[in-house]
Amino acid sequence: MSLMKGIILHGGHGTRLRPLTHTGPKQLIPVANKPISRYVLDDLKNSGITDVTLVLGSTYPEKVKQYYGDGSNLNVKIKYQTQDAPRGIAHAIGLCEQQMGTSPFVVYLGDNLLKGGINRLVEEFQTSNQDAMVLLCKVKEPQQFGVAKFNEDGKLTQLVEKPKDPPSNYALTGIYFFKPIIFKMIKQLKPSWRGELEITDAIQKLLDDGYNLGHQIVEGWWKDTGTPEDILEANRLVLDEMKPKIEGKIEDDSSLQGRITIGKNTTVREKALIRGPTIIGENTTIEANVYIGPYTSIGNNDIIKQGEIENSIIMDHCTINIKDRITDSIIAPHSKITSSKNTPHGKKFIIGERTYIEL
Ligand code: DAU
Repeated sequence: MSLMKGIILHGGHGTRLRPLTHTGPKQLIPVANKPISRYVLDDLKNSGITDVTLVLGSTYPEKVKQYYGDGSNLNVKIKYQTQDAPRGIAHAIGLCEQQMGTSPFVVYLGDNLLKGGINRLVEEFQTSNQDAMVLLCKVKEPQQFGVAKFNEDGKLTQLVEKPKDPPSNYALTGIYFFKPIIFKMIKQLKPSWRGELEITDAIQKLLDDGYNLGHQIVEGWWKDTGTPEDILEANRLVLDEMKPKIEGKIEDDSSLQGRITIGKNTTVREKALIRGPTIIGENTTIEANVYIGPYTSIGNNDIIKQGEIENSIIMDHCTINIKDRITDSIIAPHSKITSSKNTPHGKKFIIGERTYIEL
């Protein structure tokens, strides 16, 4: 059998993540200081998949090309395909027919994170005679996803996209394994009620035509990062598994508690308190008396002059200088938050790039 290839979907509008997505695609939002789609690419690579097509949308596709290039830095071969509008996951996959050729392939939504990765699943699919394989995850609110229906024998019999009355709690994750037969099914699709070509419908057609559909259940956690709350949860999940590493300069009399990663040329000044799990990037300064609480990711070239930060993501080139606590916040690059007077209340921020706030 030929080597497996990969498709990463990097399009869509990311409306639920505005304003963060006014200046870039949602898949490039960093979680623990690494873009979400980079976890996806690393997972494909670690599973032996090095021939990858990225489907780009119209939200700053050049930022994606700038970040990944031709993939040679990462030892993978990256090609790009442009989708003019988000016409559906199946539409995006259909654009990659030529690149996939006769190879089996994995489709990985660029905003999905999976603990433990797909290595085992790639092996499973390659050694099976399945025409497609889906990965399911037990969820509390299946209405928001594609959902699987099983018969009494536990056989997967139907897939329904965002059902009002879900037939089970098993959601389709955004990780699919296909043989090229899926392209034939995609060509037969009509737009759904939401105006998209649904991959769920294409897989249903495989089932209806008697093709062999396998399924696996997620063993660890899986996260679809559609909203700011999802991004913060993904940040917590990834930080929980991070290996600590201190490369910066930690001044005496500062306190580091728990699992912490600090990058090169970063300085943590005296009397600062950092509680893990937390990651701080490179060339950042954490000034004296600052408190960085658990589940926080601070990027590169930031200055945290004053204040407390907990359960938040602060991206690159930001300045924080307030007599206050920032919690549950996502702060995009080049933002500046400063105090003009004492403001002892906690505040919540979900703000876009180049924002300036004075409190
Ligand atoms: O995350 C899992 C869910 O993903 C599945 O349970 C559903 O069955 C599946 O339809 C999909 O549902 P969503 O409504 O969450 O998909 P969304 O529109 O958010 O798109 C998922 C990703 O694919 C996102 O990173 C953007 C990208 N995308 C989406 C569309 C519709 C594209 O690149 N092009 C597109 O045309």
